[in-house]
Amino acid sequence: MGKRLTVIGTGYLGATHAAAMAELGFEVLGVDVDPKKIDSLSRGELPFHEPGLPELLLKHIDSGRLRFTTSIEEAGAFGDVHFIAVGTPQRAGEDAADMTYVDAAVSSLVNAITRDALIVGKSTVPVGTARRLKSLIDEFKARGIEIDLAWNPEFLREGFAVQDTLRPDRLVVGTDSPKAHAALREVYADAISRETPYIATDFETAELVKVAANAFLATKISFINAFAEVTETVGGDIRTLADAIGLDNRIGRRFLNAGVGFGGGCLPKDIRALQARVSELGLDRTMRFLSEIDEINLRRRDRVVYLAEELLGGLEGKRVAVLGTAFKPNSDDVRDSPALDVAARLFSGGAEVSVYDPKANANSAQRFPRLNYCSTLAEAVSGADVVLVLTEWQEFRDLHPQGIQSLVNNKQIVDGRNVLGKDEWESAGWTFRALGLRSSDVPGTSLLGVT
Ligand code: UDX
Repeated sequence: MGKRLTVIGTGYLGATHAAAMAELGFEVLGVDVDPKKIDSLSRGELPFHEPGLPELLLKHIDSGRLRFTTSIEEAGAFGDVHFIAVGTPQRAGEDAADMTYVDAAVSSLVNAITRDALIVGKSTVPVGTARRLKSLIDEFKARGIEIDLAWNPEFLREGFAVQDTLRPDRLVVGTDSPKAHAALREVYADAISRETPYIATDFETAELVKVAANAFLATKISFINAFAEVTETVGGDIRTLADAIGLDNRIGRRFLNAGVGFGGGCLPKDIRALQARVSELGLDRTMRFLSEIDEINLRRRDRVVYLAEELLGGLEGKRVAVLGTAFKPNSDDVRDSPALDVAARLFSGGAEVSVYDPKANANSAQRFPRLNYCSTLAEAVSGADVVLVLTEWQEFRDLHPQGIQSLVNNKQIVDGRNVLGKDEWESAGWTFRALGLRSSDVPGTSLLGVT
């Protein structure tokens, strides 16, 4: 019989991992402390938007390979391999990651395990966590049960979660146990057979690979956004600059799209948690550049607010249409979303803000109920004094002046994601602003929009 797997924590990462492992042919039990989540997953309903995942979930609930429970005892008795996929959010008011859920999941699981097993951490954790958990687990050896531990970070992107899980770029596994490697090579045999590199390493390297990858991606984005600040002042075309440096394949074009910056549940919190962790280790200076990366990122939001205010001559009573509030397209996630932050700040500044996002209206409304949520793009832009494109959904990339100009009050648009053509909008009589674009021909007038 093949290995039986459990996935502890059925949020974004866990629900995807559980369904993907069932797709690979394993019997999988998903576990969560939240009974509402377990009820809806058991019915095949996902509490978030992820292309392809609902189909996979239903397929394997029907095939009988995938089940969900709130019982950690059931999980302990069921699984040969237990994946830990609980959240490690930013601690309130601090930069460090909150490890409460990981610690609680591992200790309740260890108490529930009734036979030899492998625990595999997938959550993003501060370096040193696996070794700390290993000593906790080892205390249970006295019961005569052998529990191994491995750290196997997950690199999935929202919007591509299924594909990234089934066909990852690489597998990284940190452990001190040869048995753990053997078990995980069996679990990931499908990817390995397609020559996905399997990187066998120690706990610390595995933990660090994950945060290093996210820190590097964040750095790439803030790097190009810092150049956007320069072209906003001196002139130049940030998109051509990105294309040109991206053609050097040591640099690469991906993650060099200038715009309102990065958000989401991972990049912002992971770079903050990494800084906090290295400071704890006495390496205060080592990751200091990451606070600069964070600041550049947050300044992009200031810039959009400034551009809107400048175009409107003040916000009070003006009508702003915000197109897109998800932190990126093909997602309904608004965690740390630059777009939603900008919308909320314009509202606080006195503007009337109409919002349209193809998927994220409901999540946005939960956070900021006082914005005017619209069910169509046309409704959102009706009567607008300025239109802001803040998430690059295809629907907004396809926007043309003719499509909306009879609806707006003033033909003014800010492209916060560099997806529209300046010439097209300007020749239709619009005032066009974009991040990375000098907004006036008078040198020195386009400062950063921050004091
Ligand atoms: C990220 C990592 O890519 C993934 O490997 C990790 O497992 C989790 O964190 P995700 O949060 O889904 O994934 O989003 P990603 O596609 O990386 O985008 C992050 C943010 O960067 C988004 O807000 C996006 O709009 C922004 N971004 C991305 C840019 O502003 N410019 C770019 O060129 C690329």
